[in-house]
Amino acid sequence: MLSPPAAVVCLLSSAVLAVVEELDHTFKDTRENDVWLVEFYAPWCGYCKKLEPVWYEVGAELKSSGSPVRVGKMDATAFSGMSSEFGVRGYPTIKLLKGELAYNYKGPRTKDDIIEFANRVSGPAVRALPSTQMFEHMMKRHSVLFVYVGGESPLKEKYIDVATELIVYTYFFSASEEALPESLSLPEIPSVVVLKDDSYFTYDEYEDGSLSTWINKERFQGYLPIDGFTLYELGETGKLVAIAVINDKDPSEECVRLKSLIQTVAKDYRQHFNRDFQFGHMDGSDYINSFIMGEVKVPSIVILNTSNEQYFLPDGPTDSLDDLVGFINGVLNGSAQAYGGDGIVQRLKRIAFDARATIMSVFRSSPVLGCFLFGLPLGVISLMCYGICTADSEPDAGEMELMKRETDEEDEEEEEEGEEHRAAQLEGPEGEEEEEGEGEEEEEEEEEEEGEGEEKAAEQKKTD
Ligand SMILES: *[C@@H]1O[C@H](CO)[C@@H](O)[C@H](O)[C@H]1NC(C)=O
Ligand SMILES: *[C@@H]1O[C@H](CO)[C@@H](O)[C@H](O)[C@H]1NC(C)=O
Repeated sequence: MLSPPAAVVCLLSSAVLAVVEELDHTFKDTRENDVWLVEFYAPWCGYCKKLEPVWYEVGAELKSSGSPVRVGKMDATAFSGMSSEFGVRGYPTIKLLKGELAYNYKGPRTKDDIIEFANRVSGPAVRALPSTQMFEHMMKRHSVLFVYVGGESPLKEKYIDVATELIVYTYFFSASEEALPESLSLPEIPSVVVLKDDSYFTYDEYEDGSLSTWINKERFQGYLPIDGFTLYELGETGKLVAIAVINDKDPSEECVRLKSLIQTVAKDYRQHFNRDFQFGHMDGSDYINSFIMGEVKVPSIVILNTSNEQYFLPDGPTDSLDDLVGFINGVLNGSAQAYGGDGIVQRLKRIAFDARATIMSVFRSSPVLGCFLFGLPLGVISLMCYGICTADSEPDAGEMELMKRETDEEDEEEEEEGEEHRAAQLEGPEGEEEEEGEGEEEEEEEEEEEGEGEEKAAEQKKTD
Protein backbone atom coordinates (compact mmCIF):
# COMPACT_ATOMS: atom_id res chain seq x y z
CA MET A 1 0.00 0.00 0.00
CA LEU A 2 3.02 2.25 0.10
CA SER A 3 3.18 4.84 -2.64
CA PRO A 4 6.27 4.49 -4.84
CA PRO A 5 8.31 7.35 -3.28
CA ALA A 6 7.62 6.05 0.22
CA ALA A 7 8.67 2.56 -0.86
CA VAL A 8 11.90 3.93 -2.31
CA VAL A 9 12.66 5.82 0.88
CA CYS A 10 11.96 2.71 2.84
CA LEU A 11 14.25 0.61 0.67
CA LEU A 12 16.90 3.27 0.75
CA SER A 13 16.90 3.64 4.48
CA SER A 14 17.24 -0.07 5.10
CA ALA A 15 19.76 -0.73 2.37
CA VAL A 16 22.09 2.19 2.92
CA LEU A 17 21.75 2.91 6.62
CA ALA A 18 25.49 2.70 6.98
CA VAL A 19 26.06 5.67 4.69
CA VAL A 20 24.43 7.93 7.25
CA GLU A 21 25.61 7.24 10.76
CA GLU A 22 23.32 7.95 13.68
CA LEU A 23 25.51 9.91 16.11
CA ASP A 24 25.30 9.93 19.88
CA HIS A 25 27.17 11.23 22.90
CA THR A 26 30.34 9.42 21.85
CA PHE A 27 30.63 11.56 18.73
CA LYS A 28 32.71 14.29 20.30
CA ASP A 29 35.49 11.88 21.19
CA THR A 30 35.38 9.67 18.15
CA ARG A 31 35.08 12.27 15.38
CA GLU A 32 38.54 13.72 15.72
CA ASN A 33 40.46 12.89 12.59
CA ASP A 34 37.58 12.76 10.18
CA VAL A 35 35.67 15.37 8.27
CA TRP A 36 31.98 15.09 9.07
CA LEU A 37 28.85 16.35 7.41
CA VAL A 38 26.21 16.30 10.11
CA GLU A 39 22.51 17.00 10.12
CA PHE A 40 21.24 18.04 13.53
CA TYR A 41 17.55 17.22 13.61
CA ALA A 42 14.57 17.08 15.92
CA PRO A 43 12.25 14.07 15.69
CA TRP A 44 9.16 16.27 15.40
CA CYS A 45 10.52 18.68 12.81
CA GLY A 46 8.77 18.54 9.42
CA TYR A 47 11.67 20.02 7.44
CA CYS A 48 13.94 17.36 8.93
CA LYS A 49 11.60 14.64 7.70
CA LYS A 50 11.59 16.22 4.29
CA LEU A 51 15.38 16.31 4.28
CA GLU A 52 15.76 12.69 5.35
CA PRO A 53 15.62 10.98 1.93
CA VAL A 54 17.92 13.67 0.50
CA TRP A 55 20.30 13.08 3.36
CA TYR A 56 20.55 9.36 2.58
CA GLU A 57 21.21 10.15 -1.05
CA VAL A 58 23.94 12.58 -0.02
CA GLY A 59 25.49 9.90 2.19
CA ALA A 60 25.28 7.27 -0.53
CA GLU A 61 26.75 9.50 -3.21
CA LEU A 62 29.62 10.79 -1.08
CA LYS A 63 30.45 7.24 -0.12
CA SER A 64 30.32 5.86 -3.64
CA SER A 65 32.41 8.74 -4.99
CA GLY A 66 35.13 7.86 -2.51
CA SER A 67 34.83 11.12 -0.59
CA PRO A 68 36.58 11.17 2.79
CA VAL A 69 33.60 13.05 4.23
CA ARG A 70 31.56 10.94 6.64
CA VAL A 71 27.87 11.68 6.82
CA GLY A 72 25.93 11.55 10.05
CA LYS A 73 22.84 12.79 11.77
CA MET A 74 22.25 13.59 15.36
CA ASP A 75 19.04 13.99 17.32
CA ALA A 76 19.73 17.43 18.69
CA THR A 77 16.93 17.13 21.23
CA ALA A 78 18.43 13.97 22.72
CA PHE A 79 21.97 15.36 22.78
CA SER A 80 21.19 18.98 23.37
CA GLY A 81 24.37 19.75 25.28
CA MET A 82 26.57 18.68 22.42
CA SER A 83 24.39 20.32 19.80
CA SER A 84 24.52 23.66 21.53
CA GLU A 85 28.30 23.33 21.75
CA PHE A 86 28.23 23.02 17.97
CA GLY A 87 26.06 26.13 17.84
CA VAL A 88 22.86 24.43 16.69
CA ARG A 89 19.92 26.79 17.05
CA GLY A 90 17.28 25.54 14.64
CA TYR A 91 16.32 22.33 12.87
CA PRO A 92 17.55 20.98 10.67
CA THR A 93 21.04 22.44 10.93
CA ILE A 94 23.65 21.15 8.51
CA LYS A 95 27.28 21.53 9.44
CA LEU A 96 30.54 20.37 8.04
CA LEU A 97 32.96 19.69 10.89
CA LYS A 98 36.64 19.72 10.08
CA GLY A 99 38.96 19.62 13.08
CA GLU A 100 38.36 22.77 15.08
CA LEU A 101 36.29 24.33 12.33
CA ALA A 102 32.54 24.11 11.89
CA TYR A 103 30.97 25.36 8.66
CA ASN A 104 27.28 26.10 8.39
CA TYR A 105 25.38 25.09 5.31
CA LYS A 106 22.68 27.61 4.43
CA GLY A 107 21.95 26.78 0.81
CA PRO A 108 19.03 24.97 -0.79
CA ARG A 109 18.45 21.53 0.70
CA THR A 110 18.97 19.52 -2.45
CA LYS A 111 21.34 16.64 -2.95
CA ASP A 112 23.52 18.35 -5.55
CA ASP A 113 23.87 21.59 -3.62
CA ILE A 114 24.75 19.82 -0.39
CA ILE A 115 27.28 17.57 -2.10
CA GLU A 116 28.90 20.51 -3.88
CA PHE A 117 29.20 22.23 -0.51
CA ALA A 118 30.71 19.14 1.15
CA ASN A 119 33.26 18.70 -1.62
CA ARG A 120 34.23 22.36 -1.66
CA VAL A 121 34.50 22.89 2.07
CA SER A 122 36.15 19.56 2.90
CA GLY A 123 38.98 20.19 0.42
CA PRO A 124 41.87 22.63 0.82
CA ALA A 125 40.87 26.25 1.48
CA VAL A 126 43.10 27.36 -1.42
CA ARG A 127 43.50 25.12 -4.46
CA ALA A 128 46.55 25.43 -6.66
CA LEU A 129 46.32 26.07 -10.41
CA PRO A 130 49.56 24.46 -11.59
CA SER A 131 49.43 25.52 -15.24
CA THR A 132 48.03 28.12 -17.61
CA GLN A 133 45.87 25.42 -19.11
CA MET A 134 44.34 24.66 -15.73
CA PHE A 135 43.90 28.37 -15.07
CA GLU A 136 42.01 28.83 -18.32
CA HIS A 137 39.95 25.74 -17.70
CA MET A 138 38.78 27.10 -14.34
CA MET A 139 38.02 30.49 -15.91
CA LYS A 140 35.54 28.70 -18.16
CA ARG A 141 34.00 26.70 -15.33
CA HIS A 142 33.49 29.45 -12.77
CA SER A 143 31.51 32.60 -13.42
CA VAL A 144 33.29 34.19 -10.46
CA LEU A 145 36.86 33.07 -9.86
CA PHE A 146 39.18 34.28 -7.10
CA VAL A 147 42.88 33.70 -7.68
CA TYR A 148 45.95 34.70 -5.75
CA VAL A 149 48.83 35.23 -8.15
CA GLY A 150 52.41 35.16 -6.89
CA GLY A 151 54.75 33.32 -4.55
CA GLU A 152 54.88 33.22 -0.78
CA SER A 153 53.98 36.59 0.77
CA PRO A 154 52.07 38.16 3.68
CA LEU A 155 49.21 38.75 1.22
CA LYS A 156 49.10 35.03 0.51
CA GLU A 157 48.89 34.25 4.21
CA LYS A 158 46.03 36.69 4.54
CA TYR A 159 44.38 35.13 1.49
CA ILE A 160 44.58 31.65 3.01
CA ASP A 161 43.08 32.93 6.28
CA VAL A 162 40.19 34.59 4.49
CA ALA A 163 39.68 31.56 2.25
CA THR A 164 39.49 29.27 5.28
CA GLU A 165 36.52 31.27 6.48
CA LEU A 166 34.82 32.16 3.21
CA ILE A 167 35.14 28.75 1.54
CA VAL A 168 31.49 28.32 2.55
CA TYR A 169 30.67 30.79 -0.23
CA THR A 170 33.08 30.15 -3.05
CA TYR A 171 36.27 28.47 -4.25
CA PHE A 172 39.71 30.03 -3.84
CA PHE A 173 42.64 29.35 -6.12
CA SER A 174 46.27 30.29 -6.30
CA ALA A 175 48.72 30.35 -9.19
CA SER A 176 52.29 31.33 -9.81
CA GLU A 177 53.08 34.21 -12.13
CA GLU A 178 54.13 31.73 -14.83
CA ALA A 179 50.68 30.15 -14.92
CA LEU A 180 48.97 33.49 -15.58
CA PRO A 181 47.10 33.48 -18.92
CA GLU A 182 48.24 36.13 -21.42
CA SER A 183 44.83 37.77 -21.37
CA LEU A 184 45.50 38.94 -17.82
CA SER A 185 47.96 41.68 -17.06
CA LEU A 186 48.23 42.48 -13.40
CA PRO A 187 49.62 45.82 -12.21
CA GLU A 188 51.69 44.06 -9.59
CA ILE A 189 52.58 40.63 -8.27
CA PRO A 190 51.55 39.34 -5.80
CA SER A 191 47.89 40.20 -6.30
CA VAL A 192 44.48 38.86 -5.57
CA VAL A 193 42.28 39.02 -8.62
CA VAL A 194 38.66 38.16 -9.31
CA LEU A 195 37.67 37.09 -12.81
CA LYS A 196 34.04 37.75 -13.63
CA ASP A 197 31.67 39.64 -15.92
CA ASP A 198 34.02 39.05 -18.90
CA SER A 199 36.69 41.03 -17.15
CA TYR A 200 38.91 40.95 -14.09
CA PHE A 201 39.47 43.18 -11.08
CA THR A 202 42.33 43.27 -8.64
CA TYR A 203 42.17 43.83 -4.92
CA ASP A 204 43.62 47.13 -3.73
CA GLU A 205 44.18 47.26 -0.01
CA TYR A 206 43.95 51.07 0.12
CA GLU A 207 40.77 51.44 -1.87
CA ASP A 208 38.94 48.26 -1.02
CA GLY A 209 39.45 47.85 2.71
CA SER A 210 40.06 44.43 4.19
CA LEU A 211 40.49 41.46 1.91
CA SER A 212 37.51 39.64 3.40
CA THR A 213 35.22 42.65 2.89
CA TRP A 214 36.34 42.90 -0.70
CA ILE A 215 35.84 39.18 -1.37
CA ASN A 216 32.44 39.31 0.25
CA LYS A 217 31.43 42.17 -2.02
CA GLU A 218 32.90 40.64 -5.18
CA ARG A 219 31.67 37.08 -4.86
CA PHE A 220 28.70 37.56 -7.18
CA GLN A 221 28.52 38.47 -10.83
CA GLY A 222 27.81 42.15 -11.34
CA TYR A 223 24.43 41.32 -12.83
CA LEU A 224 22.43 38.17 -12.20
CA PRO A 225 18.96 36.67 -12.07
CA ILE A 226 17.67 36.96 -8.52
CA ASP A 227 15.29 34.70 -6.65
CA GLY A 228 14.34 34.66 -2.98
CA PHE A 229 17.40 32.74 -1.95
CA THR A 230 19.87 34.80 -3.99
CA LEU A 231 18.31 37.95 -2.61
CA TYR A 232 19.02 36.78 0.90
CA GLU A 233 22.59 35.86 -0.06
CA LEU A 234 23.13 39.18 -1.80
CA GLY A 235 21.93 40.95 1.32
CA GLU A 236 24.77 39.35 3.24
CA THR A 237 27.25 41.34 1.17
CA GLY A 238 25.86 44.52 2.76
CA LYS A 239 25.08 45.98 -0.66
CA LEU A 240 21.82 47.46 -1.81
CA VAL A 241 20.12 45.41 -4.50
CA ALA A 242 18.82 47.14 -7.63
CA ILE A 243 16.30 44.94 -9.38
CA ALA A 244 14.30 45.06 -12.56
CA VAL A 245 11.10 43.30 -11.53
CA ILE A 246 9.83 41.80 -14.74
CA ASN A 247 7.70 39.02 -16.11
CA ASP A 248 10.04 36.37 -17.48
CA LYS A 249 7.34 34.22 -19.04
CA ASP A 250 5.60 37.02 -20.85
CA PRO A 251 8.16 39.79 -21.25
CA SER A 252 6.67 42.99 -22.60
CA GLU A 253 8.79 45.58 -24.38
CA GLU A 254 8.98 47.48 -21.12
CA CYS A 255 10.33 44.39 -19.32
CA VAL A 256 13.07 43.96 -21.88
CA ARG A 257 13.92 47.66 -21.77
CA LEU A 258 14.18 47.87 -17.97
CA LYS A 259 16.22 44.70 -17.80
CA SER A 260 18.71 45.98 -20.35
CA LEU A 261 18.89 49.38 -18.60
CA ILE A 262 19.89 47.70 -15.33
CA GLN A 263 22.34 45.48 -17.20
CA THR A 264 23.96 48.50 -18.82
CA VAL A 265 24.31 50.35 -15.52
CA ALA A 266 25.82 47.28 -13.88
CA LYS A 267 28.48 47.07 -16.58
CA ASP A 268 29.17 50.67 -17.55
CA TYR A 269 28.90 52.19 -14.09
CA ARG A 270 30.69 49.45 -12.22
CA GLN A 271 33.37 51.86 -11.01
CA HIS A 272 30.69 54.10 -9.61
CA PHE A 273 28.23 51.70 -8.07
CA ASN A 274 29.84 48.31 -7.55
CA ARG A 275 30.91 49.08 -4.02
CA ASP A 276 27.34 49.78 -2.90
CA PHE A 277 25.03 48.02 -5.32
CA GLN A 278 24.29 44.62 -6.71
CA PHE A 279 22.25 44.46 -9.91
CA GLY A 280 19.87 41.95 -11.37
CA HIS A 281 16.39 41.09 -12.50
CA MET A 282 13.65 39.11 -10.84
CA ASP A 283 10.76 37.18 -12.30
CA GLY A 284 7.62 38.65 -10.79
CA SER A 285 7.39 40.29 -7.40
CA ASP A 286 6.57 37.15 -5.38
CA TYR A 287 9.98 36.91 -3.78
CA ILE A 288 9.92 40.48 -2.56
CA ASN A 289 6.23 40.87 -1.89
CA SER A 290 6.58 40.55 1.84
CA PHE A 291 9.25 43.24 1.53
CA ILE A 292 7.32 45.68 -0.58
CA MET A 293 3.89 44.42 0.46
CA GLY A 294 2.42 44.42 -2.99
CA GLU A 295 3.23 48.07 -3.57
CA VAL A 296 5.47 47.58 -6.60
CA LYS A 297 4.11 47.06 -10.10
CA VAL A 298 5.51 44.62 -12.63
CA PRO A 299 7.52 45.66 -14.58
CA SER A 300 9.39 48.24 -12.57
CA ILE A 301 12.68 49.06 -10.95
CA VAL A 302 13.15 48.84 -7.21
CA ILE A 303 16.19 49.18 -4.96
CA LEU A 304 16.15 47.16 -1.75
CA ASN A 305 18.14 47.63 1.42
CA THR A 306 17.89 44.15 2.89
CA SER A 307 19.60 45.14 6.13
CA ASN A 308 16.85 47.51 7.23
CA GLU A 309 14.11 46.34 4.86
CA GLN A 310 13.73 49.70 3.18
CA TYR A 311 13.11 50.09 -0.50
CA PHE A 312 13.35 52.88 -3.03
CA LEU A 313 11.29 53.58 -6.12
CA PRO A 314 12.09 56.02 -8.93
CA ASP A 315 10.11 59.29 -8.74
CA GLY A 316 9.07 59.25 -12.34
CA PRO A 317 9.44 57.01 -15.37
CA THR A 318 12.92 55.63 -16.05
CA ASP A 319 13.04 56.46 -19.72
CA SER A 320 16.77 56.72 -20.12
CA LEU A 321 20.03 55.57 -18.67
CA ASP A 322 20.42 59.05 -17.15
CA ASP A 323 17.12 58.69 -15.30
CA LEU A 324 18.24 55.42 -13.81
CA VAL A 325 21.73 56.66 -12.90
CA GLY A 326 20.14 59.74 -11.31
CA PHE A 327 17.82 57.55 -9.28
CA ILE A 328 20.68 55.34 -8.06
CA ASN A 329 22.76 58.41 -7.22
CA GLY A 330 19.82 59.78 -5.27
CA VAL A 331 19.65 56.59 -3.21
CA LEU A 332 23.39 56.80 -2.67
CA ASN A 333 23.41 60.42 -1.52
CA GLY A 334 20.36 59.97 0.66
CA SER A 335 18.04 62.29 -1.26
CA ALA A 336 15.71 59.51 -2.50
CA GLN A 337 12.59 58.76 -0.52
CA ALA A 338 12.83 55.48 1.42
CA TYR A 339 9.79 53.27 1.90
CA GLY A 340 9.19 50.35 4.19
CA GLY A 341 11.79 49.83 6.87
CA ASP A 342 11.98 47.70 9.95
CA GLY A 343 10.04 49.94 12.35
CA ILE A 344 7.39 48.32 14.50
CA VAL A 345 4.48 49.48 12.34
CA GLN A 346 6.17 48.21 9.19
CA ARG A 347 6.93 44.91 10.87
CA LEU A 348 3.33 44.39 11.92
CA LYS A 349 2.17 45.36 8.47
CA ARG A 350 4.59 42.87 6.99
CA ILE A 351 3.52 40.09 9.31
CA ALA A 352 -0.09 40.76 8.46
CA PHE A 353 0.75 40.80 4.76
CA ASP A 354 2.66 37.52 4.96
CA ALA A 355 -0.03 35.82 6.96
CA ARG A 356 -2.69 36.97 4.56
CA ALA A 357 -0.67 35.88 1.55
CA THR A 358 -0.17 32.46 3.11
CA ILE A 359 -3.81 32.06 3.97
CA MET A 360 -4.91 33.27 0.55
CA SER A 361 -2.59 30.91 -1.26
CA VAL A 362 -3.83 27.95 0.73
CA PHE A 363 -7.43 28.86 0.06
CA ARG A 364 -6.70 29.28 -3.60
CA SER A 365 -5.00 25.93 -3.99
CA SER A 366 -7.20 23.94 -1.64
CA PRO A 367 -10.16 25.58 0.04
CA VAL A 368 -10.91 22.54 2.21
CA LEU A 369 -7.39 22.28 3.49
CA GLY A 370 -7.44 26.04 4.00
CA CYS A 371 -10.46 25.75 6.23
CA PHE A 372 -8.91 22.87 8.04
CA LEU A 373 -5.72 24.80 8.69
CA PHE A 374 -7.00 28.30 9.27
CA GLY A 375 -10.77 28.26 9.31
CA LEU A 376 -11.13 26.28 12.49
CA PRO A 377 -8.62 28.10 14.68
CA LEU A 378 -9.57 31.46 13.19
CA GLY A 379 -13.22 30.65 13.66
CA VAL A 380 -12.78 29.69 17.27
CA ILE A 381 -10.55 32.61 18.11
CA SER A 382 -12.65 35.11 16.23
CA LEU A 383 -15.74 33.89 18.07
CA MET A 384 -13.86 34.54 21.29
CA CYS A 385 -12.81 37.98 20.09
CA TYR A 386 -16.11 38.73 18.44
CA GLY A 387 -17.64 40.65 21.32
CA ILE A 388 -14.58 42.74 21.97
CA CYS A 389 -13.52 43.50 18.45
CA THR A 390 -16.82 44.33 16.80
CA ALA A 391 -17.86 46.63 19.62
CA ASP A 392 -14.71 48.72 19.27
CA SER A 393 -14.89 48.91 15.48
CA GLU A 394 -11.19 48.10 15.38
CA PRO A 395 -11.12 44.82 13.55
CA ASP A 396 -7.63 45.46 12.23
CA ALA A 397 -5.94 45.33 15.56
CA GLY A 398 -7.59 42.07 16.42
CA GLU A 399 -6.69 40.50 13.17
CA MET A 400 -3.16 41.73 13.34
CA GLU A 401 -2.77 39.93 16.65
CA LEU A 402 -4.12 36.74 15.21
CA MET A 403 -1.85 36.87 12.26
CA LYS A 404 1.10 37.67 14.38
CA ARG A 405 0.46 34.59 16.40
CA GLU A 406 0.25 32.51 13.26
CA THR A 407 3.55 33.66 11.90
CA ASP A 408 5.32 33.77 15.22
CA GLU A 409 5.13 30.03 15.28
CA GLU A 410 7.50 29.85 12.38
CA ASP A 411 11.10 29.71 13.37
CA GLU A 412 12.65 33.16 13.00
CA GLU A 413 15.67 31.60 11.38
CA GLU A 414 13.61 30.03 8.68
CA GLU A 415 12.29 33.34 7.46
CA GLU A 416 14.88 33.70 4.78
CA GLU A 417 13.52 30.73 2.92
CA GLY A 418 9.98 31.64 3.70
CA GLU A 419 8.42 30.80 0.41
CA GLU A 420 9.83 27.37 0.14
CA HIS A 421 9.13 26.57 3.74
CA ARG A 422 5.65 27.75 3.71
CA ALA A 423 4.98 25.47 0.83
CA ALA A 424 6.68 22.67 2.70
CA GLN A 425 4.73 23.34 5.82
CA LEU A 426 1.50 23.19 3.99
CA GLU A 427 2.36 19.82 2.66
CA GLY A 428 2.77 18.59 6.18
CA PRO A 429 -0.77 17.76 7.24
CA GLU A 430 -1.58 16.25 3.84
CA GLY A 431 1.38 13.97 3.92
CA GLU A 432 0.69 12.43 7.27
CA GLU A 433 -1.02 9.23 6.39
CA GLU A 434 -2.34 8.34 9.81
CA GLU A 435 -4.57 11.33 9.91
CA GLU A 436 -6.13 10.85 6.55
CA GLY A 437 -9.04 8.76 7.77
CA GLU A 438 -9.96 11.11 10.55
CA GLY A 439 -9.33 14.08 8.32
CA GLU A 440 -12.01 13.09 5.85
CA GLU A 441 -14.66 12.93 8.50
CA GLU A 442 -13.60 16.22 9.90
CA GLU A 443 -13.56 17.80 6.50
CA GLU A 444 -17.30 17.38 6.28
CA GLU A 445 -17.78 19.16 9.54
CA GLU A 446 -15.41 21.80 8.33
CA GLU A 447 -17.50 22.48 5.28
CA GLU A 448 -19.73 24.68 7.42
CA GLU A 449 -16.79 26.70 8.54
CA GLU A 450 -15.74 27.24 4.98
CA GLY A 451 -18.21 30.05 4.49
CA GLU A 452 -16.83 31.79 7.49
CA GLY A 453 -13.29 31.26 6.35
CA GLU A 454 -13.96 32.87 3.02
CA GLU A 455 -15.62 35.83 4.63
CA LYS A 456 -12.56 36.17 6.72
CA ALA A 457 -10.37 36.09 3.64
CA ALA A 458 -12.50 38.73 2.01
CA GLU A 459 -12.26 40.89 5.08
CA GLN A 460 -8.55 40.54 5.04
CA LYS A 461 -8.44 41.69 1.49
CA LYS A 462 -10.20 44.84 2.49
CA THR A 463 -7.66 45.69 5.12
CA ASP A 464 -5.09 47.08 2.70
C1 LIG B 1 20.70 50.42 4.54
O1 LIG B 1 20.51 49.94 5.87
C2 LIG B 1 21.63 50.06 6.71
C3 LIG B 1 21.29 49.42 8.03
O2 LIG B 1 20.25 50.06 8.68
C4 LIG B 1 22.02 51.54 6.84
O3 LIG B 1 23.15 51.66 7.66
C5 LIG B 1 22.28 52.12 5.47
O4 LIG B 1 22.55 53.50 5.57
C6 LIG B 1 21.10 51.90 4.56
N1 LIG B 1 21.42 52.40 3.23
C7 LIG B 1 20.69 53.32 2.60
C8 LIG B 1 21.21 53.76 1.28
O5 LIG B 1 19.67 53.77 3.06
C1 LIG C 1 21.76 63.57 -5.01
O1 LIG C 1 21.74 63.03 -6.30
C2 LIG C 1 20.71 63.51 -7.15
C3 LIG C 1 20.74 62.73 -8.44
O2 LIG C 1 22.02 62.70 -8.99
C4 LIG C 1 20.92 65.01 -7.37
O3 LIG C 1 19.90 65.52 -8.19
C5 LIG C 1 20.87 65.70 -6.02
O4 LIG C 1 21.16 67.07 -6.17
C6 LIG C 1 21.90 65.08 -5.06
N1 LIG C 1 21.67 65.63 -3.73
C7 LIG C 1 22.65 65.93 -2.91
C8 LIG C 1 22.26 66.44 -1.57
O5 LIG C 1 23.83 65.78 -3.21
